[in-house]
Amino acid sequence: MAAKLGITRAAVWKQIRNLRRRGYEIEASTKKGYHLTYKPDLLDADVIRSGLKTKWLGRELCSFSEVNSTNEIAKSRAADCPNGTVILAETQTRGRGRLSRPWASPPGGIWMSLILKPKMPLASVYQINMAISVAVSKAIFSLLGLKAGIKWPNDLLIRERKICGILMEISAEVGRLDYAVVGLGINANVGLSDFPEEWKSTSLSHELGHEVSRIDLIQRILFEIEEAYEKIGSRVIYDEWRSRSVTMARAVRIKSNSGDLVGVVEDLAEDGALLLKTENGCQRVLAGDCIHLRALEAK
Ligand code: BTN
Repeated sequence: MAAKLGITRAAVWKQIRNLRRRGYEIEASTKKGYHLTYKPDLLDADVIRSGLKTKWLGRELCSFSEVNSTNEIAKSRAADCPNGTVILAETQTRGRGRLSRPWASPPGGIWMSLILKPKMPLASVYQINMAISVAVSKAIFSLLGLKAGIKWPNDLLIRERKICGILMEISAEVGRLDYAVVGLGINANVGLSDFPEEWKSTSLSHELGHEVSRIDLIQRILFEIEEAYEKIGSRVIYDEWRSRSVTMARAVRIKSNSGDLVGVVEDLAEDGALLLKTENGCQRVLAGDCIHLRALEAK
């Protein structure tokens, strides 16, 4: 091994010792060398980077055992980091969701923020959210065979329960986007007791009955996000986002600053707006908290 890598035997031993400290189990045998017998599913930045199939996304990647919020870390570093930097953490002490809600972030989940610096007008940033929700849904299906539908605007649900939330925060000046930090919370290997029942959450391990490799999933998600991101501006992303929607044709209640709206979703517009048929005619809704209702409640 030392000869192959062009390093000393002592240097090999140091690396083995480092890996063991990080939870890897490695058997040593005098004549044969080393044998990896157990690989922990820790979010080890080197391991994630080494299996990445992306060109630029995640090439700069940091992983922490605990942070307040990966979005906060990403925002504090955004000015000095290249486009595509990824921040990961095993746990968050102050994970945040949309509308300033708390986001439970126990060990076993994927709590990840991306620093993106697209050259696009501010008015088009919703397309980033569309692209990312499509990409995560594709990655979960291709790797795990689970269908995750998109609840407007960009939550991912499996069997009507939330598996992934996305929180985008932007910094902009006079109509020009400076950077976007996109936080993804994916309930991977977590028990449902970590989430209050009213959150209607689920996890990948709960749906499958076994744990998943978070590292494989992160690598696949980053690959799919890069692919989708490069298609931003074309109609493909909108078409995929629309076709994966589980809000289409549903009776919904939209809670917004200007009050509640109840109606049936007629369509999803190219700019991400929800076209809602209400008692008072068709309304375009650009933002709000969407609650899926049973058909009867839509009257
Ligand atoms: C939502 O409300 O659905 C969005 C949830 C976003 C949670 C993720 S976890 C990683 C990143 N850090 C945070 O504090 N929030 C986002």
